[in-house]
Amino acid sequence: MKNQKFKADRVIRWGFVIASLLFMLFVLNEVIQAATSREDQLKMIDRKEWVESIVVRDNTLDLRHAERGLSVYSKTAGIDLAIYDAKRHLLYSTDDQAEKTLFTGSLPLFRMKDHSAVYISPLKSNHTIAGYVLIKGRGTVIVGLGLLYFFIFLAGVGLLFYRDYIIRSYAVPIRFATNMAEKMLEGSHELIASDSVRQESVLRLNLAMNRLSEAFHEINRSYATQRDSMATLIENIGNGLIFIDGSGRINYVNKTYKETFKTTANHWEFADYEKVIPYEEVVAMIDEAFRTRQRLSRQLRLAVHIEIKHFDVSCAPIINKHKKIRGIVVVFHDITDIKKLENMRKDFVANVSHELKTPITSLIGFTETLLDGAKDDKELEEQFLNIILHESRRLQSLIKDLLELSKIEQDYFSIQWQTVSLSKLLDSVLLIFSEKASEKDIQIEKLPGDEGWALGDPYRIRQIMINLITNAIAYTPQHGKVTLSVREKNNLAQFIISDTGIGIEKDQIPRIFERFYRVDKARSRDLGGTGLGLAIVKHLVEVHEGMIDVESRLGKGTTFTISFKGTEAPIG
Ligand SMILES: Nc1ncnc2c1ncn2[C@@H]1O[C@H](COP(=O)(O)OP(=O)(O)OP(=O)(O)O)[C@@H](O)[C@H]1O
Ligand SMILES: [Mg+2]
Repeated sequence: MKNQKFKADRVIRWGFVIASLLFMLFVLNEVIQAATSREDQLKMIDRKEWVESIVVRDNTLDLRHAERGLSVYSKTAGIDLAIYDAKRHLLYSTDDQAEKTLFTGSLPLFRMKDHSAVYISPLKSNHTIAGYVLIKGRGTVIVGLGLLYFFIFLAGVGLLFYRDYIIRSYAVPIRFATNMAEKMLEGSHELIASDSVRQESVLRLNLAMNRLSEAFHEINRSYATQRDSMATLIENIGNGLIFIDGSGRINYVNKTYKETFKTTANHWEFADYEKVIPYEEVVAMIDEAFRTRQRLSRQLRLAVHIEIKHFDVSCAPIINKHKKIRGIVVVFHDITDIKKLENMRKDFVANVSHELKTPITSLIGFTETLLDGAKDDKELEEQFLNIILHESRRLQSLIKDLLELSKIEQDYFSIQWQTVSLSKLLDSVLLIFSEKASEKDIQIEKLPGDEGWALGDPYRIRQIMINLITNAIAYTPQHGKVTLSVREKNNLAQFIISDTGIGIEKDQIPRIFERFYRVDKARSRDLGGTGLGLAIVKHLVEVHEGMIDVESRLGKGTTFTISFKGTEAPIG
């Protein structure tokens, strides 16, 4: 189709070129003809004047002495002469076929016919017409004019052919080179320009194109290698990274960031950093870095999922050679463990002393009061001894929890991996709570669900369940309800516990897993809590490589979802 169109184009172009050439030749011929005809006409006028000079005498035609002269003249000049009288009747002629009477048209008249020129003119004397003369002779003929035209035509066509050939022999390589350059830009290096062409300039172009393609390929390859190593480095570096471009859009978020902050950050790409980064302090730092163009580094406490983490956050602006800001790299170095270790000793000693001090103070107080005489009052003695027992139990449970926690936190702490049924484990745990629940008139319900085959240590999972159910009962007012269920979902075995209790404020959720942290200290202490239960749960879930999710609404209730690694049911 394309080829046909190309052919039609060529025919039209060539038709036009040939027509133009012919028209040019026609014009040239017309000009030459006009010039020769003018020359002939002048020659005829000269001849007429000569004839006039010898045949007109005293206003009349007189041929008597002129006939011989006219005859010689016509022979030597190679012309035919005819003389007519004033009434246009033939008087004399050198040509037998001359008309006897001249036509009655206006004269003088010059006419070219079949290479012969005819000139008819009045013969005048003192402005009166004495007669007419007709001179007929060969017109000027330029010999070889047709051949000349033919050669001009041939030369024209030849030149045009040559021009076409030159254009074609350059256009094809140029088109190829263009194609090659376009392909190179697309990243393909398959095209190779021919190195066996005759034109030197085309050969040089082709060789240069081939060298360019090779160099480009090499640059691309090394760039790709560099980019891949950079990408691997960025992906696997231990720090979270966010790249923001000069207009404040997020270009890239690395794997470590997503893992550390437990986010997919899918919608982050090309989004405005202010709109998607959920930490005000980080956004403020980026703002400042954009404003000051200075590198900033700060230690920030950020809530990640259910816990507070510590980060060394740096914002490094990327400045180009025109001193314009091209973007910002934000680096998150997780220093939670270091911070924790740092704070742990401080907090631990302070917390433990504080937690021990309260029951011991009250033990000493009541014991002293008893010794001071209260023991004589039987009723008071019993009441005080009960308080002493309660405080002693609190001390005991505190010490037990502390020992437990320190054991779990040991490096060499390991669990006995087994296939466990969360549902069966839960059934056995629930037996412990029936009395406690009925004391507070709290309804405990286990919803029908999956068996929940999980990989884990049954003793430790029991501990997790006990701590969570204890909390659910403790932080749910009388006549409330605790709902439990087990579910298998996406290769996970989940244990879900919901209560209709007091709930936890959103910003408190990450904190409840800290040691000794209690939302309402007084209330928790009244309930005998030490604030270690959830810290133990968190550690145990971590060693199980599981996940904790908390959803809570103040005054409405709380739901804890614990996900363990799911597994197949054991055979038999
Ligand atoms: N189901 C719940 N509903 C409301 N608040 C809760 C719930 N579970 C935990 N909390 C809050 O989280 C805090 C921490 O719980 P955690 O179990 O670690 O400590 P505790 O219950 O106070 O003491 P213990 O070490 O005896 O368990 C609690 O003091 C309470 O404020
Ligand atoms: Mg508790």
